[in-house]
Amino acid sequence: MADHDARSAQSDARSAQSDARSAQSDAPRAQNDAKDLYRVEALSKSYGKLKVLDNLSFNVLQRECFVIMGRSGTGKSVTLRLLNGLESPDSGSIRFDGQEIAGLREKELYPVRERVAMLFQSGALFDSMNVYENIAFPLREHTDLDEDAIAAKVKEKLETVRLSGIEEKLPSDLSGGMRKRVALARSLALDPEAVLFDEPTSGLDPVTSATIADLIVSAREKHNVTSVVVTHDLALARRVGDRIAFLDGGRFRFVGTWEEADAAEDDVFSAFLAGRSEEVDAA
Ligand SMILES: Nc1ncnc2c1ncn2[C@@H]1O[C@H](COP(=O)(O)OP(=O)(O)OP(=O)(O)O)[C@@H](O)[C@H]1O
Ligand SMILES: [Mg+2]
Repeated sequence: MADHDARSAQSDARSAQSDARSAQSDAPRAQNDAKDLYRVEALSKSYGKLKVLDNLSFNVLQRECFVIMGRSGTGKSVTLRLLNGLESPDSGSIRFDGQEIAGLREKELYPVRERVAMLFQSGALFDSMNVYENIAFPLREHTDLDEDAIAAKVKEKLETVRLSGIEEKLPSDLSGGMRKRVALARSLALDPEAVLFDEPTSGLDPVTSATIADLIVSAREKHNVTSVVVTHDLALARRVGDRIAFLDGGRFRFVGTWEEADAAEDDVFSAFLAGRSEEVDAA
């Protein structure tokens, strides 16, 4: 994971975008709610002989919260890394806002990464920097904001994650839940259009988890943020998910609303939702 964390920190940094750009992109988003932000077709990805994704197809609508669930090791994190261009698929197409991103080179991906933030499970804060510098980092890398504007932005994002006043603390002084919320503040620092969340509530108590759920919902309500949330936390999935997808055998065995999920006549998926491991394992 360390390697992924380091890369996620880089990608968080790259997720920065200038205020001007975000203002421009807000307009078409607000007018066009039902458009696909992501359209993924026939995606396949193997590691050696292990076929992780096998012809996976799905779309994520603008302003939607799309939740991906599934057993451990089924390829949920791999799917997120593909959506952010941190990995390339073996075959298939990933369109982001109409643009093909599969197979793009690092440099060609910059404009996409500036619009999509990624929040990894561990948070991946810079341990040697205090909270202020962690959140300021993408602003310094990708904008020309002066120090007063950076300070205002850091303050605003800390308020968003309900951690005002902890600017001077080091990551090692924070609890796991606080670190996760600081990482979230950093990923939101430059007002991304989409955020990819990998297990945003793992290891957190139910109250802190509910706070994270509220933040995901309010990012959508206030800033039209599209989210893709990978989680094992059913309470979170129910709270935030507009549609949920169940990854199994390299493809989505189910994609739909919670109403459809609860009515689904699929023994394996129903057993997964009910936490009945024997039936899921037997499939
Ligand atoms: N870089 C890699 N090299 C080799 N194998 C990998 C790599 N990344 C992922 N895998 C393998 O791909 C499979 C899917 O991994 P992934 O991390 O996406 O699972 P996951 O669904 O996120 O699981 P969890 O719920 O435990 O986080 C696993 O078998 C994993 O070992
Ligand atoms: Mg994972």
